[in-house]
Amino acid sequence: MCGIVGVVGDDFKVSDVVESLKRLEYRGYDSAGIAYVKDGKIKVFKSVGRIDVLKENLRDRLEDEISAGIAHTRWATHGAPNDTNAHPHTDCTGKIAVVHNGIIENFRELKALLEGLGHKFRSDTDTEVIAHIIEEEYTGDVFEAVMKAIRKLDGAYAIGVVHSDHPDVIVAARKGSPLVVGIGDGFSLIASDITPMLRYTKNFIFLEDGDVALLEDGNVRIFRIDGKAIDREVRRIDLSESVAEKGGYKHFMLKEIMEGPQTLVSAMTGRIKEGFVRIPELDEIDLSNISRINVVACGTSYHAAMFFKYFVEQHTDVDVSVEVASEFRYRRPHVDDKTLTLAISQSGETADTLESVRLAKRLGSNIVAITNVVGSTITREADISIMMNSGPEIGVAATKTYVAQLTVLALLGLQLIKDRGFWSGRHKRILDNLIRMPELFENVLSFSNDIRSVAKKYVNFGHFMYIGRGYGYITAMEGALKLKEISYIHAEAYPAGELKHGPIALLDENFPVFAISPSDSLYLKTKSNMIECKARNARIISVGTFGNDELSDLSDDVLSVPRVADELYPLVMAPIIQLFAYHMADLKGYDPDKPRNLAKSVTVE
Ligand code: M6R
Repeated sequence: MCGIVGVVGDDFKVSDVVESLKRLEYRGYDSAGIAYVKDGKIKVFKSVGRIDVLKENLRDRLEDEISAGIAHTRWATHGAPNDTNAHPHTDCTGKIAVVHNGIIENFRELKALLEGLGHKFRSDTDTEVIAHIIEEEYTGDVFEAVMKAIRKLDGAYAIGVVHSDHPDVIVAARKGSPLVVGIGDGFSLIASDITPMLRYTKNFIFLEDGDVALLEDGNVRIFRIDGKAIDREVRRIDLSESVAEKGGYKHFMLKEIMEGPQTLVSAMTGRIKEGFVRIPELDEIDLSNISRINVVACGTSYHAAMFFKYFVEQHTDVDVSVEVASEFRYRRPHVDDKTLTLAISQSGETADTLESVRLAKRLGSNIVAITNVVGSTITREADISIMMNSGPEIGVAATKTYVAQLTVLALLGLQLIKDRGFWSGRHKRILDNLIRMPELFENVLSFSNDIRSVAKKYVNFGHFMYIGRGYGYITAMEGALKLKEISYIHAEAYPAGELKHGPIALLDENFPVFAISPSDSLYLKTKSNMIECKARNARIISVGTFGNDELSDLSDDVLSVPRVADELYPLVMAPIIQLFAYHMADLKGYDPDKPRNLAKSVTVE
């Protein structure tokens, strides 16, 4: 949650900082602000609302040249979203400004202490204490002051600090929240991820927890919190800035759904050899020796995890337990050194998933992470990381990364099947289908306009019931999540067989059913449930397999996908549920890229 950027060097203007910040708007967007050093003074501007509001308020200053600047886009934790609580926060003298992502857990004690020393606070945030402690510790060296200040902080932070007496300096520090340093020729940068910096540099240092960075124009030095200098690897990442642009699409979400075929290819590349799956990252693990797999994840990643459970348990003798990370971390899980823990997180920064990883590690489990973000915290805490290779996902709703997760998990499942001696012709067919999936996906994506036409008919309904059986239930869960998070329509997901144990009481002509009904081994069972829904006058949108003509008798609207192995329907149906949710949100006039109350990476519990 929250995004921070900072620039230091000779050629920057206010507009550069604002444009960079816009690349991080997916991380939070209830308020935004900037602080920059100009003519030996700190100027601060903050506005509630999106970054465009800030930009408009800065319209007469966008061309101002600055020596250093920091900016922040906020997802409120402490204090309501308003101008005062927006970052940056300053000290009493107005010479120090701070941006912060994370939560300072001991801020109340620190605030009371600082107030006792005469400091005056203006906001309700935890962050403001950081500015005042730095002020308290400052004796002429801003780096030393930050270093002393952060030793007093409990909790998580990524911070950027500027001081008007040090116009060419940013001090940055990281503990628990992501922060990357960009290195250029005569300038340097900080940001919560690499996307805002790609237009300036391809050379990055991913700070570790406990690192403090001193940026003076192009000169970057890294220290540990105890003051010892440390060398960190400078990594070159040859991504083009355009990966974080809409490329002609109305929204990032639509662009990212349409990137599905490439996402599939990228997730499979280098992982299939001579008719079998071999994920090179797993070479150090003996999969034939594992008796249990424990999977932790949240949201969409949790749905992908459920797919893995169904797949692996159906085809091998390995038990797979899947748990929402926010529950797992507070239980007494039965995990030990014979259990492999799989942590799935596209961002690699989800607080609950990271804590679950730490707990599983303490219990002796080996950790394999599946993530999309190079250098993310999870990649540092896991024993092994399997990258999804999807490129940045900017839309808050997970779309292409869900596709990548399913793909990587299908590959991992197939490797397990082989390594444990269960491989048969059926698995060869699944792998063949997976290899053909990019082409099948293109076909499904070409029905986007038909999906929009269906969405138009349902845009005014306030409730939806998503149902499915087996792998269809996974699609139902993810479909309902997508619909509610971006179109704010109430949607429930139930295993179709559970309907008559309660939820069917909800159904009537105003409560449509989205029935995931592929022509798989459970089709006849799902069909019976659809008939039961129809008998309650519910309208039905079914998602089935091309060629199943009876679906048009059973349903009001039918969307179809090509026939695939039962196990791969969640993949080939992903564009249908994603596009349906996207079009519903767009038809309602909502911005699907920035749904209310949400942020892309949930770095607080
Ligand atoms: O980055 P992660 O995969 O750990 O994120 C988990 C969830 O926060 C995420 O999937 C969330 O549910 C999305 N908004 C779904 O679209």
